[in-house]
Amino acid sequence: MKTIIEPFKIKSVEPIKMTNRTERETYMKEANYNLFKLDSEKVIIDLLTDSGTSSMSARQWAAIMQGDESYAGSPSYHRFQSAVRNLMPFKHIIPTHQGRAAEKILFSIVGGKGKYIPNNTHFDTTRANIEFTGAVGVDLVIEEGKNPSLVHPFKGNMDLVKLENFIKEKGVENIPMVMTTITNNSGGGQPVSLENIRATKAICVKYNIPFFIDACRFAENAYFIKIREEAYFNTSVEDIVKEIFSYADGCTMSAKKDALVNIGGWLAMNDDVWAQQARNLLILTEGFPTYGGLAGRDLEAMAVGLEEVVQEDYLHYRITSTQYLGNHLLEAGIPIVRPAGGHAIYIDARAMLPHIKPLHYPGQSLAVEMYLHAGIRACEIGTVMFGAQPDGSEKEASMDLVRLAIPRRVYTQSHIDYVIEALTEINTRKNELGGMKITWQPPQLRHFTASFDFM
Ligand code: F0G
Repeated sequence: MKTIIEPFKIKSVEPIKMTNRTERETYMKEANYNLFKLDSEKVIIDLLTDSGTSSMSARQWAAIMQGDESYAGSPSYHRFQSAVRNLMPFKHIIPTHQGRAAEKILFSIVGGKGKYIPNNTHFDTTRANIEFTGAVGVDLVIEEGKNPSLVHPFKGNMDLVKLENFIKEKGVENIPMVMTTITNNSGGGQPVSLENIRATKAICVKYNIPFFIDACRFAENAYFIKIREEAYFNTSVEDIVKEIFSYADGCTMSAKKDALVNIGGWLAMNDDVWAQQARNLLILTEGFPTYGGLAGRDLEAMAVGLEEVVQEDYLHYRITSTQYLGNHLLEAGIPIVRPAGGHAIYIDARAMLPHIKPLHYPGQSLAVEMYLHAGIRACEIGTVMFGAQPDGSEKEASMDLVRLAIPRRVYTQSHIDYVIEALTEINTRKNELGGMKITWQPPQLRHFTASFDFM
């Protein structure tokens, strides 16, 4: 059969409120043309993020009723710990309320002035938590990973030559760890090959530097390995996941992605001294080490989500349905980052709207029009997000993208067809789209709260 169906039935539904363009023009104006300031009830298809937006399964909801809410030593913690260890066999598994809480704790221990932490590409919260300690986050993704239109099976790979040179240049004593983000969200949701993970680990072993994985989308990355890396064509996703983590000394995880839950995360590692320090910090800000900022029921939902996310029927549908959106946009002549990522399609707004200068925010203009035209909410990843300079000036970002992030198990193919139709229609009259300007902005992280208007 050619048709790939959603491998689930729908038992519980949430209504979508339909709106028309006139209503959306009012809502968008009230939100100062900032998609983050829109109430979600005014959105028809919400592609702002795939984080914390998954639908949980009947089994997960059932597990929630088994949550044991004891302050210390809950059986829910033990179920969570064994589900994590089944895939990621680390000695210490420390639950946190989400990914950035794990990052904050980890970098409070290993960061600090004069330290450098390389990654393929740091996600913004990872970089922010590193920089908050005075350390420097460094992105060393391969050159192919920076070219949106170039097709390469593993555009998230670490540039191994650059990594080794960087270690020699800065000195082993200044590099407390090397990280790899799977999949590489900030680089277009692109996967990292097992060969590259193994080689990164080998460099870390050579210089005696711990190797950590930012594991948010580990299952999607493992599925890409299964279908793109010849040596793994006949290996199960579960075994690929186990091999990935066998090379790591620890990981940070946002369970809001590939643990199929709405809140949760963890920090995992083998080092006893760091783990002791991490648990002390955890108690300060998150909670006791057997619940870490979560309820027992959240731990139960994660444990079941981890079993479900490595099922190959699910991953086949997940990756294929994201590709389906990407392929149809390409057919409509809309430039996207290629190949399609695992959790999102990134439209190259700068290439699509060459008449709008980067400093007039082509990504924001497209995102606003997607909402006005069809009630679709997406996220600008470009000059609005990265253009503000510390001295108050502004510079164009390296790319102007619009991310269509696909929540897990939420939308059906007809929802996606609606998105394709909307973008195809916008593309036929793209020359009518104009630039935008910022009328107010905060000193940091301006994309969340800035006000915009048309030029
Ligand atoms: N690392 C990566 C690669 C991420 O994509 C995210 C979150 C985090 C860490 C932080 O996790 O949100 O649980 O604190 N990404 C979301 C996104 C927000 O929309 O891409 P968190």
